[in-house]
Amino acid sequence: MELLDKLNWRYAAKAMNGEKVAEDKIDRILEAALQALTSSGLQPFEIFVIKNQEIKEKIRLVAWNQSVITDCSHLLVFAAWDTYTADRINYMFDLTNEIRGFENEGWENYRKMLLGLYPQKDAEENFNHAAKQAYIAFSQAVIAAAFEGVDATPLEGFEPDAVDEILGLREKGLRSTVLLPIGYRQEDKDWLVNLVKVRKPMKDLVTVIE
Ligand SMILES: Cc1cc2nc3c(=O)[nH]c(=O)nc-3n(C[C@H](O)[C@H](O)[C@H](O)COP(=O)(O)O)c2cc1C
Repeated sequence: MELLDKLNWRYAAKAMNGEKVAEDKIDRILEAALQALTSSGLQPFEIFVIKNQEIKEKIRLVAWNQSVITDCSHLLVFAAWDTYTADRINYMFDLTNEIRGFENEGWENYRKMLLGLYPQKDAEENFNHAAKQAYIAFSQAVIAAAFEGVDATPLEGFEPDAVDEILGLREKGLRSTVLLPIGYRQEDKDWLVNLVKVRKPMKDLVTVIE
């Protein structure tokens, strides 16, 4: 199947059947998220994979009681850095030098520029920037799930502070950003499954300037 066929197959499943997704599929979905491009390559987020049913139940209570949270196989929580710190920036630059095996003056100047820019900014502004990067990884996970023939329901309908509390994210310098239950659709309980997918016409999306 072509990628676009798989994207047409995917939809935001409203009901899942509790069936487990094979770990190798989950690994490839996470790998796709890991491969996400991010601003300056900082990857300013982490992903929590919740398999524990009790924790899923707690999260459901603060997420509009959405059934996919407990009926999914794995619940992915994308958590962005609460701010950019010098340590966090240095970690990624040092890792780059270590993996590539050399230091580069241009890259080190870029590090200094970021160190002089981000840590001085307001934490909320930095979090919002980090959260945008988390959404890129989230989107790649959605696409990868479709590629694997697995359903994934994007969820912003939750109380972030409560999820942060349940998972102890603030202590880790993280804030929940978006949830992604991964599992298999339950067609007989899903009002959306047979409805035509609606997208605006291409002309309302794209303007070509020759
Ligand atoms: C960031 C984001 C948050 C969303 N939050 C929810 C949600 O909390 N509950 C829900 O049922 N659907 C949620 N959706 C699903 C969207 O409504 C759905 O993706 C959109 O209507 C397009 O339909 P499709 O995904 O079936 O193609 C969310 C989608 C995105 C991208």
